[in-house]
Amino acid sequence: MAVDPRELMRARFGTEPAEVDPVASDAAIARILGRRTHRSYARREVPQSVLDVLLAAALSASAKSDYQQASILHVRDPEKRRRIADLVPAMPWIGDAPVFLVFCADARRLRRISEMRGHPAHNADLEAFFNATVDAALCLQTFVLAAEAAGLGCCPISVIRNHLQVVCPLLDLPPGVLPVAGLCVGYPSGTGHASMRLPPSVTLHQDRYDDAALAQRIDDYDRRRDARHAIPREKQRAPAKFGHADFYGWSDDKTRQLAEREGSGFGAFVRKHGFTLD
Ligand SMILES: Cc1cc2nc3c(=O)[nH]c(=O)nc-3n(C[C@H](O)[C@H](O)[C@H](O)COP(=O)(O)O)c2cc1C
Repeated sequence: MAVDPRELMRARFGTEPAEVDPVASDAAIARILGRRTHRSYARREVPQSVLDVLLAAALSASAKSDYQQASILHVRDPEKRRRIADLVPAMPWIGDAPVFLVFCADARRLRRISEMRGHPAHNADLEAFFNATVDAALCLQTFVLAAEAAGLGCCPISVIRNHLQVVCPLLDLPPGVLPVAGLCVGYPSGTGHASMRLPPSVTLHQDRYDDAALAQRIDDYDRRRDARHAIPREKQRAPAKFGHADFYGWSDDKTRQLAEREGSGFGAFVRKHGFTLD
């Protein structure tokens, strides 16, 4: 189905686009422009043959230095699925999704291969942690784009990192292998919506970084986003701490979220789990 590229831009940024190059109508690009997270799935199995293709696509993602430090775990065991879902009752899609994958940063494999070849391996420092994490993230997003092309919907799940003490032993993740995010996968039960992004005037810079106009642009973005998908009063975060705002935009929501520290034990766990982070 042909989609008007101007409509895709409008949906993504909430602004009236200037001239849009016809390349935006290319099926693959249009799909990326219109992409969206899905958290609700039809009761329909994802054939293993389809999953195999999507996993192959994911593993075709670029990899830093060709080190290939991503590993993907398919959690099939219903009991393990249940235990992971029970960790985050606020996100029932974790248990409901027909397929649940875990994308891992895997610095262990190269360490083992170095041992096999009798070479020293400097693969526990911050550089190594970062490289393996980036590889896993690229793999994850490549999977998502391939899945969306196949008519599936996905939702990454980074909250599993708030429960590493449970998730790592449950999945037998050895030192050096860390979950970057889980991924719910299934045929979507609804159409969802394209989440409005910050405008390129905020996120794109020419030759030098310049955020001089940030305050005004964030105000404008908040208003545009609110006009399309207002956050209802009852969904305002932590009203006991921050009160109820008359106007509650994206920036209020995200800064309230950021005011609560998340993943406080992450650094300590990562160090215990085989990374020095030096
Ligand atoms: C690394 C990563 C982790 C995420 N973790 C979660 C999560 O734990 N739970 C959840 O419901 N959504 C999660 N999401 C989905 C985001 O909330 C979603 O991508 C964001 O709201 C933008 O929406 P869009 O993907 O539809 O554009 C995650 C996304 C990414 C990229």
